[in-house]
Amino acid sequence: RTPIVVMASGTGSLMSALLDVAAGDDSPFDVVAVVVDRDCRAAELAAARGVDVVTLRLRDFADRAAWDQALTERVADYGPGYIVTAGFMKILGEQFLSRFTARIINSHPALLPAFPGAHGVADALAYGAKVTGTTVHLVDAGVDTGPILAQAPVVISPDDTETTLHERIKAVERVLLTDVVAAVAARGVVTDGRKAYIP
Ligand code: GAR
Repeated sequence: RTPIVVMASGTGSLMSALLDVAAGDDSPFDVVAVVVDRDCRAAELAAARGVDVVTLRLRDFADRAAWDQALTERVADYGPGYIVTAGFMKILGEQFLSRFTARIINSHPALLPAFPGAHGVADALAYGAKVTGTTVHLVDAGVDTGPILAQAPVVISPDDTETTLHERIKAVERVLLTDVVAAVAARGVVTDGRKAYIP
């Protein structure tokens, strides 16, 4: 089974979906640790399920580079095959990215390259888009710019609020992300410039 480290900052529903899959006998991956940057529901849920939780708050470090270094070392200690950012709301640093190049998988609540950043759901609504969705992609040095692994659409209805739309997107994200992580854990990922595919 491929060891996976999950990183989260929020309610942890994507993380929980990954833990549910990892609990199955036939799972191609194990979640060996959950890394958080703040006290959050994700940390509570992971601890309650007996998963190692590592908390690294940016404010506890002298600067971003020191936080980046600690994050890199703590994650590397677990020897992960892949790292999954599941609602992790901090930009990863240079050291972390170069140590784990092409091995960090992110789930974003919009159809990239539309609506990148921290407010993907609100931005799609405010723009008046009629369809949005979710993207699973490899993380590179940009914000939500890395090679795309999979996408799924979600139709926006006229009476949607950010909350109702985000809940529908997250329901789709949980399925897409767990499927992609299982496939990548089992078969790896091949990149060719901007293109990435699971063989
Ligand atoms: C998910 O929709 C995820 O795509 C998003 O946060 C939510 C986490 O939900 N991430 C981002 O917006 C990152 N820019 P959860 O805490 O219930 O798993």
